[in-house]
This record gives sequence, structure tokens and C-alpha cells, in this order.
Amino acid sequence: MPSLTDTFTLSNDVEIPKIGFGTWQIPDGPDAYDSVAAALKAGYRHIDTARAYGNEASVARAIRDSGIPRDEIFVTTKLPAEIKDHDEALASFETTMSALEMDYVDLYLIHAPWPWTDMGSDHRTGNQAVWKALEGIHASGRARSIGISNFTVDDIESLMETATVTPHVNQIRWYVGYTQDETTAYCQQKGILVEGYSPLATGAILDSADLAGIAAKYGKSVAQLCIRYLLEKDVLPLPKTTSAKRAAENADVDFEISADDLAALDALTDPTA
Ligand SMILES: NC(=O)c1ccc[n+]([C@@H]2O[C@H](COP(=O)([O-])OP(=O)(O)OC[C@H]3O[C@@H](n4cnc5c(N)ncnc54)[C@H](OP(=O)(O)O)[C@@H]3O)[C@@H](O)[C@H]2O)c1
Repeated sequence: MPSLTDTFTLSNDVEIPKIGFGTWQIPDGPDAYDSVAAALKAGYRHIDTARAYGNEASVARAIRDSGIPRDEIFVTTKLPAEIKDHDEALASFETTMSALEMDYVDLYLIHAPWPWTDMGSDHRTGNQAVWKALEGIHASGRARSIGISNFTVDDIESLMETATVTPHVNQIRWYVGYTQDETTAYCQQKGILVEGYSPLATGAILDSADLAGIAAKYGKSVAQLCIRYLLEKDVLPLPKTTSAKRAAENADVDFEISADDLAALDALTDPTA
């Protein structure tokens, strides 16, 4: 399907497939292995994991066993949000690379600007130190691209005070009704690709009657409409599913949402609020 092979081009000229397969909350072992294997079989060539998901080893094994050449699959993983020290970041990257058994990752992200137990707390100096570690990893060639996740404009501006590499990506929560307009506009203007995580609001958006009405006009499911909405906004969707059937459905999004329907979607409020 074209949406699976089409790419965005990052500011460093690295190509990234337009739809990524999310793996949060898929347990390590057969669940993660089978989900990623099914996604690759369905044509996905971009897999998103994280050290914090605990499933890097199974995700990587499914990638290896697929027989697809490594350079045809885009692999993202993330530095745990709790690590805000340069040397600890380097050590965590080594742990990740041992779990993945790969020579390089395509994208390495700081998972969040703050530990999950203290969201919103100020770690600007720690993030600057950790970013230096990621810049070193990038220079070594072991991460083709580097980026951030859950960063606001303020967080990015603090990082840029000492950065020599502008993040290639900011991965943020993004779905119909939750579009983070300020951060999105800022990143797009600076050439930072916005990746949208939880494009289905972790499932909470799927029974919206408003969305069902619009999706029906196109003969598409609510999930397909939601994923297409991100693509219409040049935001890279990262849907997750443990179902092979839904993985294929989520990638079958080669249709165009009309300007009127886009405006209607823009006007919806967060269905999970
Ligand atoms: N950087 C971060 O801080 C961060 C945070 C959250 C997520 N993420 C990334 O973004 C990815 C996606 O976000 P997410 O996991 O929150 O969820 P999501 O993709 O918004 O939604 C997943 C949920 O929707 C269901 N689903 C998927 N496709 C469906 C379909 N076609 N029809 C009906 N139900 C469907 C799934 O159930 P089944 O599995 O049963 O199909 C699951 O319950 C994550 O896996 C992760 O890679 C990153």
C-alpha cells in the first residue's frame, strides 16, 4: 500500500516511512514478536519501540526473522525518560543495542523531557546533557537520526541553547481533537518532523458518532479516518494493534479527506476529555 512505502524526508535527508507501527503495551515475548511479524507481513517498514516498553528484544527478533533486509526497515527506540545524565544515557544506549542486536537504529529519541512520575518538572540541564550524548551517538553513525518526544516549544528552545544538531523528530500525542497546534506549527516551521503517537487516542476515539458519520462518507472505518487525518496534516501516525487484520486496515488509508470534512474534524474537541 502506498501509505506504507511513501516516505517523509527528515532534515538530514533520511527517508522515514509515513506510517509507523506502534508497540507500546505489547508484552515482550510472543505477543510483541507476533504483532511485529504480522505488521511486517502487512507491509509496514517502520517500527516504533522504546526501552521503557520492555519489548525491544522481541521486536528486533521479529525484524531479523522476517528476512527483510535491515536497511529496508526503519527502527525507532527511545532513551528512558528518567535518564537525565550524559553517561547514563550512553550506558542505556548500549543496553538497548544489546537487546536489539543491531548495529544501528534509524531514530533514537529522548522519551520525555521529565520522568513519568514527575511530569512537567524542570530538567533543562539534564536534557541538554542527554542531548549531547545523543549527538555523539548520531556522529558515530549508530543512530541515523535523533530526536525528542513529548517536548513543548519551551522544552525545545531550552535544548537548542546548547545543541549543535536540531532534533530531526518530535514524537507527541496527536489525534483528532488533540492536535497540539503550537508545538506542531513550531516544529514544522523548524523542519522537525512531528510524529503523532496515540493517533486513535489509545482506542478511546473509536466509538465517536461524529467520526463514524464522516468516515462512512468515504467507506472507511473511524480508525482509517483518524490515521488519514494525521497524514493530511503532515504528521506521521504511529497506530498500534495486536491484530493482523487491523494492522492491514490501519495502513489502507490512501484516500483524501475533503477540505470541508477536514474543517469539521479540526473543530472537534478532545473526545477523551
Ligand atoms: N512517545 C511516547 O511517549 C508515546 C506514548 C504513547 C504511545 N506512543 C507510541 O504510539 C503508539 C500508538 O499509540 P497507542 O498505543 O497509545 O494507541 P493507538 O494506536 O492510538 O490505539 C491503539 C488501540 O486501538 C485499538 N485499535 C487499533 N487499530 C484498530 C482498529 N483498526 N479498529 C479498532 N481498534 C483498533 C488497539 O487495540 P488492539 O491492539 O486490540 O487492536 C488499541 O487498543 C504506541 O504503541 C507507541 O509506539 C508513544
